[in-house]
Amino acid sequence: VPGLNDLAISAGKRYFGSATDNPELNDTTYTSILENYAMFGQITPGNSMKWYATEPEPGVFTFTAGNVIADLAKSNGMVLRGHNCVWYEELPDWVTANNYNATELAAIVANHTGTLVGYYAGQMYAWDVINEPLNDNGTMREDVFYDTLGDSYISIALKAARAADPNVKLYINDYNIEYVGTKSTAMQNLIKQLQADDVPIDGVGLESHFIVGEVPTTIVENMQAFAALGLEFAITELDIRMELPATADLYEQQKTDYYTVVSACMQVEQCVGITVWDWTDKYSWVPSTFPGYGDACPWDSNDMLAHQNYERKPAFDGIAIALQGQ
Ligand code: G3I
Repeated sequence: VPGLNDLAISAGKRYFGSATDNPELNDTTYTSILENYAMFGQITPGNSMKWYATEPEPGVFTFTAGNVIADLAKSNGMVLRGHNCVWYEELPDWVTANNYNATELAAIVANHTGTLVGYYAGQMYAWDVINEPLNDNGTMREDVFYDTLGDSYISIALKAARAADPNVKLYINDYNIEYVGTKSTAMQNLIKQLQADDVPIDGVGLESHFIVGEVPTTIVENMQAFAALGLEFAITELDIRMELPATADLYEQQKTDYYTVVSACMQVEQCVGITVWDWTDKYSWVPSTFPGYGDACPWDSNDMLAHQNYERKPAFDGIAIALQGQ
């Protein structure tokens, strides 16, 4: 079987890729699979470019961990997606604890975003400049940024990113916007407002954390709605979890579900690529966040007792078949 990235590129997409995280890179079996351009043509740092990791103290920037991921991408010729500039989670305490006023916080958001994006200028294909700004009911999430600045924090960050790197694609990334519904409509309205206000915005990240047997049926229709806004989008964090224990039937359904998502991207030209939120169950975020769920990735773990050794699951074939347009 050819690699998934090779198949994606043959099909006219920019990449098939994966998230990864610094601790995982000590696992040489893991890296031997990850560092194969035919399989993974794109990398997203799972954690090491987040705010707490890059500006732990006011104005004190550290790119050491981020650079490990950026260098891995560069040495393998992989596309890099930056993740992320402004997010309500994983903030260092100083951002939230100081009760900054609007003028102060606006400068902090602009400086954080501009410094981060500027540091990696020329190395990134895209940045998730704004991460998860919406509530599931479509209203703006009331985090420190919104509470202090209203929705102006979004344009402040996007403009700072554009000024710092005129060539990188600027994305807003979120979940539960992968299907037709209130939250997707709200994201489309946000994009339209930014466009009307001449705020730079190039793309939308559809995270795509799904559940086996519950993959939405309106993914293509929803993608077409984003495409109609005149911007690109990507599947940025794909995984499809199941309630454990895994069974052969669940694996087959998961194969179908991966097929459904990847083939949706194949059907809409403006879907530029697909990123899985790590390729192996060993390093998936799912079990720690959703107790009783797991097995969300296309490769299994490397638990030799369970006869697992980073084997491809049926989900892998679902992806490969979709990428071949079958
Ligand atoms: O680094 C510390 C380590 O020192 C400590 O011993 C350990 C104990 O819990 O925690 C480690 O930090 C964890 C970090 O991942 C690195 O592994 C945090 O607790 C944990 O909360 C953090 O989870 C990450 C989560 O984002 C929150 O930032 C996940 O790995 C990461 O996969 C997840 O990714 C998010 C995307 O950024 C946005 N979309 C949703 C997606 C899944 O939640």
